[in-house]
Amino acid sequence: MEKKRFSDKVVLVTGTTSGIGRATALAFAGEGAKVVTAARREERGAELVDQIIKDGGEACFIRTDIRNPGDIDNLFEKILEKYCRLDIAVNNAGMSHPHIPTVAKTTVEEWDAVIETNARGTWLCMKQEIKQMLAQGGGVIVNTASILGFTADYGLSHYCASKHAILGLTRTAAYEYAKKNIRINAVCPGPIQTEILERASQFIPNMYEMVIANTAMKRIGEPREVSGIILWMCSDEASYMIGKEIVVDGGQSI
Ligand SMILES: NC(=O)c1ccc[n+]([C@@H]2O[C@H](COP(=O)([O-])OP(=O)(O)OC[C@H]3O[C@@H](n4cnc5c(N)ncnc54)[C@H](OP(=O)(O)O)[C@@H]3O)[C@@H](O)[C@H]2O)c1
Repeated sequence: MEKKRFSDKVVLVTGTTSGIGRATALAFAGEGAKVVTAARREERGAELVDQIIKDGGEACFIRTDIRNPGDIDNLFEKILEKYCRLDIAVNNAGMSHPHIPTVAKTTVEEWDAVIETNARGTWLCMKQEIKQMLAQGGGVIVNTASILGFTADYGLSHYCASKHAILGLTRTAAYEYAKKNIRINAVCPGPIQTEILERASQFIPNMYEMVIANTAMKRIGEPREVSGIILWMCSDEASYMIGKEIVVDGGQSI
């Protein structure tokens, strides 16, 4: 039987209860990986695991709020208990605040909520991933940033700052661990049809029309169009790539 691309690899994907994370977990499972999925909504988490197992794959769900260091400790305890290693990690969990205040009107609560999840949560996960990858002699990490990691958008200072932070973190960690056989990169999606975009559309009149008009391909992307790139970045075909990002945005940032 032909060996699949990620056969026997232990892969962690965060933010798997919807959107890009869900598509990424499904894609890894389809390529033979043992997939550990993590997010907060347990029913959705269990539903994805059922689907992967029904399709002949291997997966588990560990309820994790990436804002909570105790949850992340628990996630890694469970991963190591079950598999004793972690080959690949995709730090994808993220959120945006539905309100779009200008900088001066942003509240401390709004700022903290987005930074705590996207920037601090990604950093907390990376700390544990790197610790384990150093102990086992290597690994691969992909962080989900955004085109707003290198551009701006009106009313999204908290989200833009959090995604700029993810790119800074990706580059610094890639540099620090390059000689330790740990490859770290980021993916920068543009507009992708997921819950985050759907929620934003409820607060921004004509959002879909505006986004489509600003995108060279004149359409919103599908989660699988990002997961395919993430899988490639985690594969041996990307073995000389570190500290960089791939933009998947239908031409919105060109
Ligand atoms: N869609 C886009 O247009 C777009 C563009 C650029 C970048 N991105 C980025 O892509 C990533 C995935 O988002 P998506 O588009 O797939 O949106 P989504 O459908 O809203 O998915 C977000 C995922 O993150 C999880 N999550 C949120 N807060 C969490 C927390 N505190 N702890 C653990 N999990 C948490 C959610 O699960 P629970 O609620 O169950 O915890 C959900 O599974 C995010 O980092 C987002 O910023 C998206």
